[in-house]
Amino acid sequence: MDKILILDYGSQTTQLIGRRIRELGVYTEILPGDADLGEALAAAAVRGSNTAGGPRPEDRTENRLRGIILSGSPESVYTPEGAVPDPRIYSCGLPLLGICYGLQRMNVDNGGTVEPLPKREYGGVKITVRTGRRNGSEGRPGLSGKGPAPGRSETFTAWMSHGDTLTTLAPGFLETGTSETGYPAVVVHREKPWYGLQFHPEVTHCERGMEILSSFVFGICRCKKSWSMKAYMKTVRAELAARVKDAPVLLLVSGGVDSTVAAALLLTALDPDQVHLMYMDTGLMRKDETLQVKAALEKLDARHLHIVLCEEEFLSALAGLSDPEAKRKTIGDLFITLQEREVARLGLPETYFLAQGTLYTDMIESGRGVGKKAHVIKSHHNVGSPLVEAKRQEGLIIEPLDKLYKDEVRFLGKLLKVDKEALRRHPFPGPGLAVRILGEVTKEKCGILREADAIFIRELRRRKNSAGNSLYDEIWQAFAVLLPIRSVGVAGDVRKYGWVLALRAITSADGMTAGVYPFPSQDLIEISTVITNTVKEIGRVTYDISSKPPATIEWE
Ligand code: XMP
Repeated sequence: MDKILILDYGSQTTQLIGRRIRELGVYTEILPGDADLGEALAAAAVRGSNTAGGPRPEDRTENRLRGIILSGSPESVYTPEGAVPDPRIYSCGLPLLGICYGLQRMNVDNGGTVEPLPKREYGGVKITVRTGRRNGSEGRPGLSGKGPAPGRSETFTAWMSHGDTLTTLAPGFLETGTSETGYPAVVVHREKPWYGLQFHPEVTHCERGMEILSSFVFGICRCKKSWSMKAYMKTVRAELAARVKDAPVLLLVSGGVDSTVAAALLLTALDPDQVHLMYMDTGLMRKDETLQVKAALEKLDARHLHIVLCEEEFLSALAGLSDPEAKRKTIGDLFITLQEREVARLGLPETYFLAQGTLYTDMIESGRGVGKKAHVIKSHHNVGSPLVEAKRQEGLIIEPLDKLYKDEVRFLGKLLKVDKEALRRHPFPGPGLAVRILGEVTKEKCGILREADAIFIRELRRRKNSAGNSLYDEIWQAFAVLLPIRSVGVAGDVRKYGWVLALRAITSADGMTAGVYPFPSQDLIEISTVITNTVKEIGRVTYDISSKPPATIEWE
């Protein structure tokens, strides 16, 4: 399988570059920008085969590296924080594409200069690209597909976000595109297969962005389309079967998309009798959650589903606690204790494998193969658990989704016929309702919040936007939060002293940053009415209009 390597210098869009190229059908991997590339480049160095646009030798090398992309960065190349790539990228002969910081990096590393702009360029900026006789790039595969005819130019809107610019080009570099403000926007090397863009082709607002990435991946790196979810599924199934043989496998499921899809994969790759699924109902779950999880997993032919009911234990451990960190720590610790106790109760042989629904974006730092700036949303099932660590040491951990992005997991789930509702579900934090009941958690408050939250979600599923999509599907995550305050109201001429509920609905790509979902006000007013009419303990409903940052998505 052909592969494009992305060196991550910390840009918010590094992950997006990877996803876009996978959308084109080519496998990508991300490494920290300063990673030692000795091994990766040695594997790629076969018969000088990667000269851009040159003949493509047939080989059967696994994950064959065909080109390298240097990502953008919040840093500047002239500060100590600006990471430097392994210098061997400049002598290995592979095609390089520098994006924003990546371009500036290539320029400075090869003798050019970069300086701050008098004014930062941000957003849509017109770019004019030229090809042809007079600019020295004739006969070379270009970055813009067919591109303009020789000697002609073409203008389109690109997406910029930079505070520095190239001021002197490195020897051999040639400016073939210029921004409307007069700064270099596209740079190519006269002889080497090196390209640089001051803008971000991976962003959807960038006109011709996909065309440019496609030109690099197929025209310049000569990649073959070889990444598809079906092929991936087949390979992973075969690898799982070969590795596990007839040993039992235990997967801790949370009911979220990742662990459900991991369960589906295990159940189809192995004999379902080998697969043990364990789910802990902490009593901090959403309404009917355990029933829904059970139904979804049984539909997948799960035969050994161990549902552990531990509401009492969690609620008594939480009694009297109102500090958010103390609540989180108590839940995390108890989770680990109960998990170990319950796993021991299953009496599996010591050689059992422990499976986890870890995603590509959950992997951290070099040792585990993802750029150091990659976002981490850890499920509390797999953070620092001694059970997981012990199994990892023994080489008995299976992470069948560790090469996939979230949306790819959803797609895989579809192929595996996972329940549609389970795939569409909004994320839910490990500590559950405990971080949505501000202050002390009680059984009564869990009940009130569960009801209110279920109404909010039911209303979102039922309401459509102007494009006909349900609001639930438009929103990245929505939930209700029970505040630790009561306020005065009136119900049927009687004074009411009810709890205050906050509704939260956000838009996001990955939970790292979030915007407020811009509800039509009529929807909010109607939803508030249904909630206060149905859940008598709630007297007032508010809508949280904070984005992340500065707020976080959850309230605690
Ligand atoms: P914050 O509140 O940090 O949340 O903006 C970002 C995303 O992570 C989820 N979240 C968690 N998920 N265990 C999890 O598995 C946790 O402890 C946890 N805390 C927050 C949150 O729901 C949002 O999607």
